[in-house]
Amino acid sequence: MDFNLTEEHIMIRDAARDFAQSELLPGVIERDNKQEFPQKLVRKMGDLGFMGIMVDPKYGGSGMDAISYVLIMEELSKIDASASVIVSVNNSLVCYGIEAYGNDAQKDKYLNKLATGEFVGAFCLSEPEAGSDATSQQTTAIDKGDHYILNGTKNWITSGGRADVYLVIAQTDRDKGHHGINAFIVEKGMAGFHVGPKEDKLGIRGSDTHTLQFNDVKVPKENRIGEDGFGFTFAMKTLSGGRIGIAAQALGIAAGAYELAKKYSKVRKAFGTEICNHQAIAFKIADMATQIEAARMLVMKAAWDKDQGNNYDMSSAMAKLFASQVAMDTTIEAVQVHGGNGFVKEYHVERLMRDAKITQIYEGTSEIQKIVISRGVLKD
Ligand code: CAA
Ligand code: FAD
Repeated sequence: MDFNLTEEHIMIRDAARDFAQSELLPGVIERDNKQEFPQKLVRKMGDLGFMGIMVDPKYGGSGMDAISYVLIMEELSKIDASASVIVSVNNSLVCYGIEAYGNDAQKDKYLNKLATGEFVGAFCLSEPEAGSDATSQQTTAIDKGDHYILNGTKNWITSGGRADVYLVIAQTDRDKGHHGINAFIVEKGMAGFHVGPKEDKLGIRGSDTHTLQFNDVKVPKENRIGEDGFGFTFAMKTLSGGRIGIAAQALGIAAGAYELAKKYSKVRKAFGTEICNHQAIAFKIADMATQIEAARMLVMKAAWDKDQGNNYDMSSAMAKLFASQVAMDTTIEAVQVHGGNGFVKEYHVERLMRDAKITQIYEGTSEIQKIVISRGVLKD
């Protein structure tokens, strides 16, 4: 067992750290205030290979492993979780979904642009009546021979107003239940595809979240991913990898808040000494450090499982469940360590606290992760 990162991994982590410090940090408060999507930064992340981290270089990707992916996600998320969720969805849901399960024509058509940041991808599973209960899909896709007719509503879609390529899950045969669900590649601008208003959110405000409406959208049959009826399995398999990305995002949010709190505790004085010399504060720092280390182990284990070709349904669920709780706990304590300064935007920790919450909700709530984990462990 080797806990050391390779030289290549250290290089990748440092490149992501440098980018986050020099490019994401300067405008992060303003983007949060204005709910501004980081369009130019997405292109820059594409240039650095962050939009197609694990994609095969023959499709324009960086050809890196899942360990590299979580290292990059952690570093970006320390500074800007809005930017990192765009990266996570693009990489582990959209690029991975197409690369692992798409056919050669789909890979040739979409992967290069997605992996280089020219295109942004969105993943559309959730609906007003099908969030956690994802098999209850109300969006329909009716087989018309050489095409499907898509109707329905998807909500909460990350990058919903900015994406070029949307992976849309829909019911094609209700009698078959979840075996009658398919996944489709829908392109921006297809007739009948409408983007609804942008959500005004508590956190990750720089990411772009929309409801989408599909009114008789004609989707060519060649845009279906996999065999007929593969859509729900597709969504579940893809989400297992996505949850590694969100676990790494949660870890990064926690680590970012911890680093700020530690630094602040060494300079802020109260009662004649730096506050880190008060045991109540020192113990908070100790708890944060320990929780973050434990979260990092789970995140790395899930990424390692993926790299080794092991099943990672459970390790990704455990990593997301644990790291998202650590993100919540750490950011709340980081605000406390900052006192009144923790409550204002300039010190960043209040934003990290607001951003942390979503990691317990999207890509499967914490309760859903417990369903996945309990079913897995009880089956043994
Ligand atoms: N891999 C392959 N197949 C899987 C699977 C997996 N990981 N998990 C489940 N399946 C299969 C099951 O084997 C079953 O198929 P069979 O009947 O052929 O055996 C089928 O899927 C249905 O499974 P369940 O009976 O377990 O279904 P369920 O209704 O009990 O629900 C669930 C399972 C785990 C709760 C699932 O509905 C779920 O994950 N819900 C959460 C949805 C979610 O994560 N949404 C995220 C949206 S994307 C997003 O959020 C992006 C973002 O924010 C940035
Ligand atoms: P519900 O399913 O209604 O859950 C409500 C509460 O009940 C939760 O606490 C839940 O854990 C609990 N609950 C539900 N069922 C059970 C159960 N069986 N046992 C115990 N507790 C249960 N979706 C996408 O498809 N693509 C995206 O890009 C995307 N991005 C998102 C971005 C943001 C900012 C947000 C807020 C959401 C996003 N989502 C996206 C949707 C997200 O995945 C769902 O919000 C999430 O899966 C929960 O679904 P829901 O909101 O319908 O909550």
